[in-house]
Amino acid sequence: MTVRSVILGTGSALPAQRVSNAELAERVDTSDEWIVERTGIRFRHIAGPDETTGTLATDAARAALESSGVQASSIDLIVLATATPDQTFPATATRVQNALGILDCVAFDVAAVCSGFLYAVQVADSMLRAGVHRRALVIGAETFSRLLDWEDRTTCVLFGDGAGAIVLEAQDTEGETPQGILSTKLHADGRYNDLLYVDGGVSTTGTVGKLRMKGREVFRHAVVNLASVMNESLAMAGLQPSDVDWVVPHQANARILDATARKLDLAPEKVIVTVDRHANTSAASVPLALDAAVRDGRIQRGDLLVLEAMGGGFTWGAAVVRF
Ligand code: UT7
Repeated sequence: MTVRSVILGTGSALPAQRVSNAELAERVDTSDEWIVERTGIRFRHIAGPDETTGTLATDAARAALESSGVQASSIDLIVLATATPDQTFPATATRVQNALGILDCVAFDVAAVCSGFLYAVQVADSMLRAGVHRRALVIGAETFSRLLDWEDRTTCVLFGDGAGAIVLEAQDTEGETPQGILSTKLHADGRYNDLLYVDGGVSTTGTVGKLRMKGREVFRHAVVNLASVMNESLAMAGLQPSDVDWVVPHQANARILDATARKLDLAPEKVIVTVDRHANTSAASVPLALDAAVRDGRIQRGDLLVLEAMGGGFTWGAAVVRF
């Protein structure tokens, strides 16, 4: 028997306010036509004054607990991926812990920007399989709207806010098609720090700063890195692209999703797409897309999933999961 981390349930949360491209074009020099053609984005949700990364994460976590049928008090680990924490410290994960009324568990944040959820999954999976913890909440949550320069049309139209969560449980699995996380593979290459970054921070400017991106160069790296890390994670699990039922990708750009699927010879219908309605929600995008496809009935128990993401750092990664 092998211990694996099994996804008990999923959840997500979006801010109440939804902003269309046309609404954005009223205050930014852009158009619905340009945004749809270049990115596939039609809408994004933007956090209001009472909504934060922590409140969205808590709502997503509650939904994941409910779909899992487990009590918050049974969670002994919270790993929260974010680049937009409520405060520099304490970790937003501890704010979620408090909001859920969990009296004792391990709770911390992981910062790997858009790949943050994949990093959080590998960390939680390793801790569960090592027997250190039994049941984990893994969350990706962001309020990127607060990092955007609304004068910079090359970035501000691309991002949105939201949160997604899963509950993982360590289970003894066996058989030919074991359930749970089958492999994870992560990478980082800090030589590319200056292609996607925030121009401020506690230890440099003492301010929060704004997001800056050289989009075309990020795009080029994304397609190559994502295709290669998906192949690596599948090979680690002894599988190949033709075994995959669903790709649950980071939602940065519809053209990246298409190009990556083509590289792996995967049918476009197997790729879960939410970039049209959520835009790029950084660490939240993979669990948001996963929850959407579980709730609309496309992803079923037993399906083979590949989750993947790439973002600032660069960081990138993939996970192969039997749902
Ligand atoms: O989540 C982390 C990973 N992030 C990504 O993966 C993002 C990757 N990059 C991209 O998705 C794309 O590169 C973008 C969507 C950011 C840009 O698309 P592009 O096809 O690479 O456009 P571009 O940057 O080459 O710009 C083309 C033109 C430029 O005008 P000129 O110089 O050709 O006259 C831009 O000024 O489009 C112009 N432009 C816009 N026009 C209207 C740039 N942004 C806008 C805009 N509205 N919002």
